[in-house]
Amino acid sequence: MPFEITVEGPSPATLRLAGDLEKFSPTVGRVPPRHPLAPEKGRIVIVAPREDGLDPLLMEICGVVHRAKETLIPGAEFQMRVRNLAYSEPPSGSNQFLEPFRPIPSLTIQPWTSEHETPEDPRTIIIDPIHAFGTGKHPTTILCLRAMETLIRNSTHGPGLRVLDFGCGTGLLTIAAVKMGAQEAVGVEIDPPSAQAAKNNVALNRLSDSVRIREGSWERVSGRFDLIFANLVISALMKEGTRIPDFMARTGTVVVSGFGENQMGQIRGFFEGIGLDLSEVSLHQGWGAAVMRHNIP
Ligand SMILES: C[S@@+](CC[C@H](N)C(=O)[O-])C[C@H]1O[C@@H](n2cnc3c(N)ncnc32)[C@H](O)[C@@H]1O
Repeated sequence: MPFEITVEGPSPATLRLAGDLEKFSPTVGRVPPRHPLAPEKGRIVIVAPREDGLDPLLMEICGVVHRAKETLIPGAEFQMRVRNLAYSEPPSGSNQFLEPFRPIPSLTIQPWTSEHETPEDPRTIIIDPIHAFGTGKHPTTILCLRAMETLIRNSTHGPGLRVLDFGCGTGLLTIAAVKMGAQEAVGVEIDPPSAQAAKNNVALNRLSDSVRIREGSWERVSGRFDLIFANLVISALMKEGTRIPDFMARTGTVVVSGFGENQMGQIRGFFEGIGLDLSEVSLHQGWGAAVMRHNIP
């Protein structure tokens, strides 16, 4: 199981620290330590390929960082975080997430690296996935993007389309919605580092006027939306999903994902029980997504 270790700190210090940490991971030397939004800060990402040996590795890295604190810039603060990549998507520092790719034909995702600034192309999104789900590579995100493109293209709501992504991770779906023509998108995210990552990504794409990210859950949502996305693990979907109809416009649509194709019957039964009708189903690599609307007699 690979692990990702991130060290962030003041820029001049991280530049020198990267030299000391290069021996732990070849990617450290290839990617200059730079924070996407704060030029005064740097970020070093080390990928440890296996869990065994992780503790001694962390101790060694902590030792190097500690010495840097004493000698490079006395008093400099470094933040160190570790995440298990078995439960995450490919991180920005890994080889799997350095090249641009197209999750759907009309959209390019440019993973953030220090060489890539905000793209001019209106159909390119820059994503720094650090500490959040939503690189654009997971099948459930792809299912949501496919549904989004069709629903926005065929929308009868005109230019005022409002979109909510409940559980927005990196904020990718909110950014994509505005790029595809929505007037406004709101993302809510319960996990603080993910909410911060989403805010950073919105700023990287210069969309802070039309995309709002709120840390929290339903208590941070107000008003009704023409299009709602909820890509959540099935337990969370069936717990939080009961509130979805309260936030859908009368003619609104919801796209849910995050469940396996064999759980489609369960999802359908659950949402029919709270007044939503299934109008479309899509599958990709064993995962499912469902499009639903209010059951209006
Ligand atoms: C599978 S990710 C989806 C990310 C993104 N929407 C996408 O489709 O790629 C689900 C996200 O929902 C968040 N989440 C889970 N339960 C939540 C809740 N009750 N309220 C808000 N966010 C929640 C998780 O922290 C996670 O970032």
